[in-house]
Formats: sequence, C-alpha cells, structure tokens
Amino acid sequence: MTRVSSFLAVFFLLFLCLLILSRRTRHAEAVAPLRPGFYAQSCPDAELLARDAVRRAMARDARSAASVMRLQSPVVMGKLNWAQGCDASLLLDDTPTMLGEKLSLSNINSLRSFDVIDEAKEAVERVCPGIVSCADIIVMAARDAVVLSGGPQWKVRLGRKDSLSASQEASDEIMPSPRANASSLINLFQKFNLSVTDMVALSGSHSIGMGRCFSIVFRLYNQSGTGLPDPHIDPRFRRHLDRLCPAAGDGNVTGGLDSTPTKFDNQYFKDLVMEKGFLNSDQTLYSGDGRTREVVKRFSLNQEAFFDAFVEGMLKMGDLQFEQPGEIRRNCRAVNNQPLAQIYNLSRGIKEVKMLQSLLLN
Ligand code: HEM
Ligand SMILES: *[C@@H]1O[C@H](CO)[C@@H](O)[C@H](O)[C@H]1NC(C)=O
Ligand SMILES: *[C@@H]1O[C@H](CO)[C@@H](O)[C@H](O)[C@H]1NC(C)=O
Ligand SMILES: *[C@@H]1O[C@H](CO)[C@@H](O)[C@H](O)[C@H]1NC(C)=O
Ligand SMILES: *[C@@H]1O[C@H](CO)[C@@H](O)[C@H](O)[C@H]1NC(C)=O
Ligand SMILES: *[C@@H]1O[C@H](CO)[C@@H](O)[C@H](O)[C@H]1NC(C)=O
Repeated sequence: MTRVSSFLAVFFLLFLCLLILSRRTRHAEAVAPLRPGFYAQSCPDAELLARDAVRRAMARDARSAASVMRLQSPVVMGKLNWAQGCDASLLLDDTPTMLGEKLSLSNINSLRSFDVIDEAKEAVERVCPGIVSCADIIVMAARDAVVLSGGPQWKVRLGRKDSLSASQEASDEIMPSPRANASSLINLFQKFNLSVTDMVALSGSHSIGMGRCFSIVFRLYNQSGTGLPDPHIDPRFRRHLDRLCPAAGDGNVTGGLDSTPTKFDNQYFKDLVMEKGFLNSDQTLYSGDGRTREVVKRFSLNQEAFFDAFVEGMLKMGDLQFEQPGEIRRNCRAVNNQPLAQIYNLSRGIKEVKMLQSLLLN
C-alpha cells in the first residue's frame, strides 16, 4: 500500500467521523424514545397498510416473509455500526479475504424483499406523506412476516429516523458469516448488548426462509479446511444436502433453513438437536458450545419459551437502531439529500474500507 493511499484512507475516515459527529450533535435534541403507537395520531393506518403489503407479497411468493424479515437483522446492525462511525471496528475486524464472501451475501433476496418495503412505503406515503420512516416500516413488516407465518404477535416500538447512509449494501458488510461458530456469534451479539439467549432466540428467525448452497458447501466438503464434512450433520440429512449441493454445483440452489421453511415455529430447534441444521452458524448453536446448547434444547421442547424470548430479542434489537441521527426518507432506497448520499455511499466506499483494512492490518 502506498503512502498516498494510506493518507487518503485516514483522511476518508476522519472526514466520515467529523460528518457523523456534526450531524449527531445537531440532531441530538430531536431524540425521543421509541414507543408503540407512535403513528396513532399522525398516520393511524400505517401499520395496517404495511401488513397488507406483506400479505400481498406472501400471496405472490411464500418466501417473501422470510426475505422481509431478514432485513431487520442486517439493517439494524448495519446502521448501528455506521452511527458509531468513528469506531468502524466491526466493519474492519475480519480479514480482507473475508470481505469478498461477505459482499456476495448482498444477494437477489435482499433486493426482492426491498420491493415489499417499497410497496408498503408507497402505500403509506399516499395516505400520510413524509411521516413514517422506512426503518419503522421494516420493523413493522418484519413483525408482520412472523405473525403471518404462524409466529407470535407483538407491539413494535416506533419512531425511528432513517439513517443518512444511502446504501443498503452497507448492511451486508457486517452480516454474520454462515461459517461463524457459537463463540464468535456470542461475541458479535454481545457488542450489541444482546445476550446468549437473545442470540439463540433471534437465530430462530431461521425457522422461516431459505439458504443457498453457496452458504453451506464449505461445511459439506471442507469444514475448517479439513477436507472433510462437518461431523455435526446427521448422515441421512447429509446425503440429502450432498444431493442438493454437489461440490461443484450451482451455488444459487436453495434449501430450507429448517424442515418447515414457511412456518414460524420451534421446528428449527428440534432440527438442530437432531443435527439437521442447514447453516453451520445454526448447527454450531447446538453442537459447538454448552452455553447455547442449553438454550437450543429448551426452545426445542417449549415453543412458548422460544416465542417469548424471540419477541424480547426483536424488541431489543429494534431499540438499538435508535442511536442514530436521521430523516424520514421519501424513497427507502435513497437519502433525501443526494450529496450526502454520495459521501455515505458505502458501495462506493468499499474501496476505501479495503484500504483501511490493509492499513490497519499491516
Ligand atoms: C446469528 C447470526 C446469523 C447468521 C450467521 C445468519 C446468516 C444467514 C445466512 C447465511 C442466510 C442464508 C443466506 C443465503 O444463503 O442466501 C440467512 C438467511 C436468513 N436470515 Fe439470518 N443470520 C443470522 C441472524 C439472523 C437474524 C437475527 C434474523 C432476523 C431477525 C435473520 C433472518 C434470516 C432470514 C429470515 C433468512 C431467510 C431469508 C430468505 O429466505 O430470503 N437472521 N441468514
Ligand atoms: C470460533 O471462530 C473464531 C473466529 O473465526 C476462532 O478464532 C475461534 O478459535 C473459534 N472457536 C472455536 C471454539 O472453534
Ligand atoms: C450496552 O450497554 C452499555 C451499558 O448499559 C451501554 O453503555 C452501551 O452503550 C450499550 N451498547 C450498545 C451497542 O447499545
Ligand atoms: C480445504 O480448505 C483448505 C483451507 O481453506 C484448502 O487449503 C484446501 O485446498 C481445501 N481442500 C479441498 C479439497 O478443497
Ligand atoms: C447466482 O446468481 C447470480 C445472479 O443471478 C449470479 O450473478 C451469480 O454468479 C450466481 N452465483 C453462483 C454461485 O452461481
Ligand atoms: C453509489 O456508488 C455506486 C458505485 O459507484 C453507484 O453505482 C451508485 O449509483 C451510488 N449510489 C448513490 C445513491 O449515489
């Protein structure tokens, strides 16, 4: 790395920090706690309209629920990361070679589920323009996706602002890796004040949805570089996965994250106990760590316990988002103020992030 680009990288980070800090102080007094019924007066139909959009999307394609729901995890965490700004440690603490794989997680699914958010946002904007944030629509839609898939019902806390970062891609940066083991997941969630129980319960969102072969071939054929499969896969289930995902096959083929991928239930945990988890990051919760195994066992035996812990985890995760300065976006895909969008455009910033990484790692 040349001295000039090192300088540029540092300058970029400083610039970002200053910008974020100045925005933050300017908006500091606007901060108010999230609460249920935030739009009861200003846009009473908001929640109804959002649910209708999710329902329509699910009628078109049952998987929409999962795809919408998935947004809450990376979006919340991604934005929190950028709100912290100056300490972009989460973004940087993986090795440069991991970046490429993480980026490829920004996949077709995310794009597709953004259509649902757009649809909900448009419906809400028609009735009460400029009132309801996209962040709140995502949180409502994620809840609705769970409810409409047979999961628990709960009151979401609302009143978020949308981040000033334009890029949905940003969130993919810190999506936890499907290769992650239980202890690294515990540590990752700890950074957001989410407990072991929260983390296991939130992983239970994989009770709905699909994963790609791309995300599991390493564990089928070369777990941790051993040249062997993950030992924690039930033999019959492994034969099934081997057929679905042959070593040199199409990485875009998908399989259910649990054996009932359109139903939100505790089957996911039962599957883990039987070593029939799809993702390594799921199976490791049972097979890789005593702390998480206890929670998996409990949820596999008691669906109510899972639902209660899941709601608590979703509320906690939703509350995290609040720390950031922001606005009510008119269009969920772009910040209102375009020049800022370009500065914050992380998909453009990837280059700078890579530079920073090598700077910090060398
Ligand atoms: C514990 C850490 C987590 C890891 C390692 C993880 C990883 C993954 C991976 C690798 C996929 C499949 C992507 C693909 O192959 O295309 C996936 C899908 C999914 N994730 Fe997670 N995730 C985690 C936590 C969460 C949380 C907290 C939520 C929800 C709040 C969530 C919701 C989902 C959903 C619903 C899908 C299915 C999406 C679809 O079918 O389109 N995940 N996750
Ligand atoms: C879990 O993964 C982390 C990071 O990849 C690694 O440093 C650690 O040794 C692993 N822990 C176990 C118990 O395998
Ligand atoms: C976690 O909790 C501590 C102590 O309550 C607090 O200082 C910190 O800001 C929290 N971190 C996050 C990411 O919310
Ligand atoms: C398995 O992974 C290791 C480390 O990533 C690599 O060196 C090795 O060539 C891989 N083996 C096979 C059979 O792909
Ligand atoms: C999956 O599909 C996308 C878009 O359709 C394509 O760009 C990508 O190369 C495919 N990935 C794999 C692993 O086949
Ligand atoms: C962000 O950067 C990418 C890559 O340079 C570009 O294609 C995209 O249009 C930019 N987005 C915005 C909102 O400026």
